[in-house]
Amino acid sequence: MKLEQPARAWWKEAAVYQIYPRSFCDSNGDGVGDLPGILQKLDYLQQLGVDVLWLNPVYRSPGVDNGYDISDYRAIDPVFGTMEDFDRLLEEVHRRGMRLVMDLVVNHTSDRHPWFIESRKSVDNPYRDYYIWKPGKDGHEPNNWGACFGGSAWKYDPQTDMYYLHLFSKKQPDLNWDNENVRREIQKIVRFWMDKGVKGFRFDVVNLISKGAFEDDTEGDGRKYYTDGPNIHKYLKELHDMTFGTDTQIVTVGEMSSTSIENCYQYAGRDTGELSMVFSFHHLKVDFMGNEKWVLVPADFQKLKDIIFEWQTKMTEHNAWNAVFWCNHDQPRVVSRFGDEGRYWKQSAKMLGTIIHCLRGTPYVYQGEEIGMTNTDFTDISQFRDVESLNHYRILQEKGLSASDAFRIIQIHSRDNGRTPMQWDGTKYAGFSSEDGKEPWIGVNENHTKINTADQLENEDSIFRYYQKLIAMRKELDVIAYGDIEPLAEGDSSVFAYRRCWKGQELIVTANFYGKEYEWK
Ligand code: GLC
Repeated sequence: MKLEQPARAWWKEAAVYQIYPRSFCDSNGDGVGDLPGILQKLDYLQQLGVDVLWLNPVYRSPGVDNGYDISDYRAIDPVFGTMEDFDRLLEEVHRRGMRLVMDLVVNHTSDRHPWFIESRKSVDNPYRDYYIWKPGKDGHEPNNWGACFGGSAWKYDPQTDMYYLHLFSKKQPDLNWDNENVRREIQKIVRFWMDKGVKGFRFDVVNLISKGAFEDDTEGDGRKYYTDGPNIHKYLKELHDMTFGTDTQIVTVGEMSSTSIENCYQYAGRDTGELSMVFSFHHLKVDFMGNEKWVLVPADFQKLKDIIFEWQTKMTEHNAWNAVFWCNHDQPRVVSRFGDEGRYWKQSAKMLGTIIHCLRGTPYVYQGEEIGMTNTDFTDISQFRDVESLNHYRILQEKGLSASDAFRIIQIHSRDNGRTPMQWDGTKYAGFSSEDGKEPWIGVNENHTKINTADQLENEDSIFRYYQKLIAMRKELDVIAYGDIEPLAEGDSSVFAYRRCWKGQELIVTANFYGKEYEWK
């Protein structure tokens, strides 16, 4: 496929590292990772070679959804430290030539946010319309929409005898983006962090902010009424124009839940004036049944390739930019999911890294991926912490599954698989926190004695050293950031392969996805 010459941008040549602060490094022994902990590890990150650090939310929050329920957008939650800690971290990040990206959650707030506390007081409160309130229908919820974390997306509030919308937990009420005041408030928040020197934003579930008709969904859970909703492009363009669009050094990535590729041409188009790039998730649903995650089905390799190649080629044709990734704080660990935790642990981790880092798009490394961290070894539901997992453990049993069958599903799909403490060394708490400190908020994987950074930094053949090379290669070869992409072996049942070409440079990636010797020409 022949390409239009792509516009150069620093973030197309960059590699991003995602930090889940709660589980990264605990500097004060209270069992929770914190900002000074991140500061201690900046040299490590610099050594890895990444250019950008994305922090999951560290704002003040009751922590019902680990910070995705924000009660103050301009304050640091005390569990993570202070605003002084943040400023120091930012300074040190810049001193090392890296940049910081904040995670902004603007589809919803915490129910403890002052706007919501006001909003629920009375129907004529000035903040009433900051959220989405509807009367019940015949004594029931306003419609049949389901919340992503299980149950109805509506919560009855006796104070005014009405329901409010929450697409996630009931403690995360959805903001009403049709209200101009809400949009202005969000713009002010974005500017606040830009003024501090932050160089980018990851916008949480941002394609859900524009709600359409509040109708019953006869075929599904309602997502068709609010996914890529009617005013989504207008709202993103407005946010762009009023805030980060004035600064070409800012990078933005939208987390796009159940989106369509056609909408992504627009969200992440070269000249569309919305966002720099998008996270789409279709390739991470190949072990679901349709949209249903809480089942056990084997990953469909052909589908995985089809989806990745479709996004690679079509986004390229439309001059739009992908974020490329396997892992984040909402996903199980990729080496356990599509690789091999056992015999080919190291080889499969390197193979998966190669596939992602040579694709067209900006690669994201999620903490611990660079050392091949695996899913949890939890054996009891009491070890899990995630609100989504715990809700679905209950719902699966309400549907008739035995506790052990429900548990097996949680073990495989839980987001907590990606949230156990970062494994720095072989000591009691894996070097995440001091041995005499409080027990970490979530259990450390027993395999930290074998899988840890201390060991891998010393070993030339380690997964860490390999990721380091992949990231360095991106800086040496323009073909990786700018080359066009041609899928190879599309129908092959074992091989993942593609070719990249750019101004006389050619790169061919071939990966045997399975643990059997295989011949391919
Ligand atoms: C996004 C976040 C996830 C969070 C949800 C609700 O998907 O990545 O962790 O629970 O949005 O904010």
